[in-house]
Amino acid sequence: MSFCVAIDGPAAAGKGTVSKAVARHFGFPHLDTGLLYRATGAKTFEGLSPLEAAQSLTTADLERDDLRSGDAGQAASRVAAIPDVRSALVDFQQAFARRIGGAVLDGRDIGTVICPDAEVKLYITASDEVRARRRHAELVAKGENVTEAEVLADLRERDERDSARSAAPLKPRRGCHGDRYLGNVDRRSRGQGHRIG
Ligand code: CDP
Repeated sequence: MSFCVAIDGPAAAGKGTVSKAVARHFGFPHLDTGLLYRATGAKTFEGLSPLEAAQSLTTADLERDDLRSGDAGQAASRVAAIPDVRSALVDFQQAFARRIGGAVLDGRDIGTVICPDAEVKLYITASDEVRARRRHAELVAKGENVTEAEVLADLRERDERDSARSAAPLKPRRGCHGDRYLGNVDRRSRGQGHRIG
């Protein structure tokens, strides 16, 4: 039997932390779909067109150690606005979502496009400032030389692009179609507030 947990939300809202906790709790595999777009974006740095990059993605591409950088995030957001790029990545995500035994996927369009009939849909968000603070700390820990103000501007720019695009835009949801809304997770620290079941 398949069982899809769809987790969406804006940049750096904590989707990864919640997804991993849910996946661990239920023993489901987890797919961070942002990595697909980050890897596609990163491959365009090497001269491939966005569509060529998406069509030629391999598991090794998803293991590059530069995918969490700010540049890869911006490149991801740009290629993610191209409908053909999104189409090239749909089958893989839908097959993952319907694996026998269950799956957790996080991204922007999981509950709307990839798995609209997901058994559980969560939308996670937090204030811009809290998201920027957390992401800044992560990037600095990885050795990136960036200010919190730059991270805030990056998140806002990506959110704007991700919400305004015509192909599978990020849509803030609050309690519609049976979705769960985890509300503002500003004051929740890691390990707090992620109790499921
Ligand atoms: O980690 P963060 O929330 O900052 O971003 P991400 O989930 O790694 O996604 C990077 C970019 O990929 C986003 O800004 C989106 O443009 C794009 N993305 C998307 O369009 N659809 C998804 N399902 C996942 C990511």
